[in-house]
Amino acid sequence: MTESYLQNLFAERIGGRLYGKSQAIYKFEKIKRAKRAALADHPGDEIIDLGVGEPDEMAFPEVVQQLCVEARKPQNRGYADNGDDVLKQAAARYLERVCGVKGINPETEVIHSIGTKAALTILPAALINPGDCVLMTVPGYPVLGTHATYYGGLVHNLPLRDERQFLPDLESVPAAILRKAKLLVLNYPNNPTGASATPEFFAQVVGFARRNRLVVIHDAAYAALVYEGQPLSFLATPGAKDVGLELHSASKSFNMTGWRCGFVVGNELLVKAYGDVKDNTDSGQFLAIQHAAAYCLDHPEITGKIAAKYSRRMDGLVNVLLNAGFKARKPKGSFFLYVPAPKAAVTKNGVRIEFHSAEEVSQWLITQQLISTVPWDDAGAYLRLSVTFAARDPADENRVLQTIADRLALAQFEF
Ligand SMILES: Cc1ncc(COP(=O)(O)O)c(C=O)c1O
Repeated sequence: MTESYLQNLFAERIGGRLYGKSQAIYKFEKIKRAKRAALADHPGDEIIDLGVGEPDEMAFPEVVQQLCVEARKPQNRGYADNGDDVLKQAAARYLERVCGVKGINPETEVIHSIGTKAALTILPAALINPGDCVLMTVPGYPVLGTHATYYGGLVHNLPLRDERQFLPDLESVPAAILRKAKLLVLNYPNNPTGASATPEFFAQVVGFARRNRLVVIHDAAYAALVYEGQPLSFLATPGAKDVGLELHSASKSFNMTGWRCGFVVGNELLVKAYGDVKDNTDSGQFLAIQHAAAYCLDHPEITGKIAAKYSRRMDGLVNVLLNAGFKARKPKGSFFLYVPAPKAAVTKNGVRIEFHSAEEVSQWLITQQLISTVPWDDAGAYLRLSVTFAARDPADENRVLQTIADRLALAQFEF
């Protein structure tokens, strides 16, 4: 086939003339392929999917009902642009009631997002010039860094390691990087490590940002999913509003991933800049969805029920993994369990399989034991297991957990 001239038109940021020609297969595609192969080899068997990064249930019925009511209102039909007052005010109330953050001005310090992911793509446009550096944690959710590089920015990775409770070592950033750095992106409770931040760490972050003239973006997509106590907002830290923003989302807190709604809150000038770029990017989320999300923010007990389910499942999964020899520790929040990957597995008939990466372990677990996990090799070899696996009720959860235990018992793991 002759090549179309279109092949020469792609931007360098997505590969330029080579766009679409790479043979590289990315992690999630490899997982999908391994699942297909496993099902072909074991027709009729069930893959236990611990790789899913989103809730297994739909939004609560009262929230769906709220959406229906709001969708029928003619005044909600049009472009929402940067939103009306309903979600902004609910967000300010939520931050005070749920996170203890007082004094958020809903008019100037909150604007909705079409999900956190959208906000993470918009913010670099407001802040990054060519050559500016973004400090990002790895392993992590790379979206902001990807967009920063689209604008000619650079990413400096801060590894998250167990010995530092998966908090980045801010003092490790070289002076030359700090001179170019403009943004520090954090996410707690963290995907994929499940780790939580502490007020002391956030206080250190505010000081670090002030000293080095950085903007802090705290991605709080999992903030509300805590197993005990109150969610920790970065904005509860003295001085945080002078240096940064926090991104909240209805996706995980209220089982609303597909609804695409969240909010950006914090420093007035930064919120304004986000709003200005957003205005040139999207026309706002449907007001009926924003209003249903606002209803949720006034009903945080919904998140309480969701978190209680994850906590119960997490207890079960930690037990199963400990019994199989894994080093598993229940996190304080999120739905992710992050465990060191085994170095080898010895099967019942004495065959020893050595693993050189978490990815190899993950592929083996899918194809040989029909258990799907997500591997991370960025800062040590780890597996991420999510308790959002499909199960109808607590009895079904126990069946799934028992199945995982039975399958893992088919091999002995070495670490
Ligand atoms: C750390 C993190 N941030 C943001 C998102 C995206 O959230 P939203 O659905 O609000 O766009 C995810 C989704 O997996 C995530 O893991």
